[in-house]
Amino acid sequence: MRQDWVLRGFRQFDAPVSLVLAYDRELDPGAVVHFDLGALCYGIVLAAWDRGLGSVINGQGIMRSDIVREVARIPESQVIMTCVAMGYPDDSFAANTVRSDREANGDFVRYVGFGD
Ligand SMILES: Cc1cc2nc3c(=O)[nH]c(=O)nc-3n(C[C@H](O)[C@H](O)[C@H](O)COP(=O)(O)O)c2cc1C
Repeated sequence: MRQDWVLRGFRQFDAPVSLVLAYDRELDPGAVVHFDLGALCYGIVLAAWDRGLGSVINGQGIMRSDIVREVARIPESQVIMTCVAMGYPDDSFAANTVRSDREANGDFVRYVGFGD
């Protein structure tokens, strides 16, 4: 079943759409472009959710970025960063009911000047 789950990821979770996020190679090297593209990715996912679309940000879909580049016709001047599977969520699919636990903010945020 684990194997099946991994393969599902390579199928983009059977979503009808997969966005490939890429940036101009001339912006390399630099962490800022990665930061910016992460922010854009987050914005896309939230905007999609606002319209009822679910997303899975995933690296699996670009592990064979050579094939992705060819099929999606992405020029060598662009660096492929990640992809986002997107579609209307199937609420009857068991995995979609899983809610992962989150660390409490206080475990990783340090508040300075707020009464400490
Ligand atoms: C940059 C990035 C890459 C990811 N790559 C994968 C991936 O390749 N396969 C996968 O199943 N989930 C991947 N995930 C995780 C999913 O996007 C999602 O966060 C996860 O299914 C669990 O949801 P949760 O954040 O509510 O726990 C990735 C997340 C991020 C931010």
